[in-house]
Amino acid sequence: MTEDLSRYDSIRAVLWRGDRLRLLDQRRLPFVEDYIDCTTPDDVATAIRDLVVRGAPAIGIAAAWGVVLAGQRGRDALADALPRLRAARPTAVNLMWALDRMQGAIADSPDVQALVREAQAIQDEDLAANRRMGALGATLLGERVGVMTHCNTGSLATAGYGTALGVIRAGVAAGRIERVYAGETRPWLQGARLTMWELVRDGIPATLVADSAAAHLMKTGAVQWVVVGADRIAANGDTANKIGTYQLAIAARHHGVKFMVVAPSSTVDMATPSGEAIEIELRDPGELLTYSGQRTVVDGAVAWNPVFDVTPAGLIDAIVTERGIIEHPDAARMRTLFT
Ligand code: MRU
Repeated sequence: MTEDLSRYDSIRAVLWRGDRLRLLDQRRLPFVEDYIDCTTPDDVATAIRDLVVRGAPAIGIAAAWGVVLAGQRGRDALADALPRLRAARPTAVNLMWALDRMQGAIADSPDVQALVREAQAIQDEDLAANRRMGALGATLLGERVGVMTHCNTGSLATAGYGTALGVIRAGVAAGRIERVYAGETRPWLQGARLTMWELVRDGIPATLVADSAAAHLMKTGAVQWVVVGADRIAANGDTANKIGTYQLAIAARHHGVKFMVVAPSSTVDMATPSGEAIEIELRDPGELLTYSGQRTVVDGAVAWNPVFDVTPAGLIDAIVTERGIIEHPDAARMRTLFT
């Protein structure tokens, strides 16, 4: 596949600076490109919780660097930091996976440089996985297709290039995709604020739609694939991703639109048997009661704000990982790549 990676891969959201972790503040995009520096593991845990950095692989990478910051402060700081980082957000298993890897590195060597090497490896491997998944996933698309995506799964959510957005980048570079439709992703607007920013920067033909326009869009025939990322894939292929993904999968099946999940192996959790066992993060109802900081709902109203949902494996046509593609996933097919 001929692909100009430099054209489609210019954004970096997580930057290690030797004694600090620099994070692109995703709360302020697309209009303000501002970075915040984390100098303590608690700074990193707070940045993850407050969505300065978000997206499953990116929060795992940030947490790994948070462990390095703790290691620079000594053994007691490490013991303190690990549970705090682990508790920052519950659904994306990449966070726990990265912390388990860092704990393994701590057990192997007391040397801070060994922790630096492990965190850098986690970051580098994620970028390599994304490029591999991009190439693999693009082969499934067909020719001149319309693609719908949800939330933000791009460079901002990963070490770079992206998962679902990596497949979209590779598909556009190969001339397979005519147009990308991004759902705005209420209430935090990852699609409107972040995905549209990445797509427009890369010159990819992209149209924003309200989340509630998805089924109507599919009915027009403009979309052949829904391509999304994941926060946790259970052992039977059930997949947790941003709230709204499940209803996209239902609408896609109804309209004969294919549904692809793209995620690195760090998102696969074979210890969780099915989606039923995945903890769904509930965030502050205030995120729903306001828009851009302005209250939009009458005082006294209440809101329910789950920020992920689970798409059953039966609604997924393909799970793309850097280890390979699993079509029509179920527990047996998952075991062929993940034992
Ligand atoms: O709440 P967020 O913005 O962290 O949620 C992100 C998502 O749901 C993404 O789709 C998922 O993490 C995959 S990112 C490559």
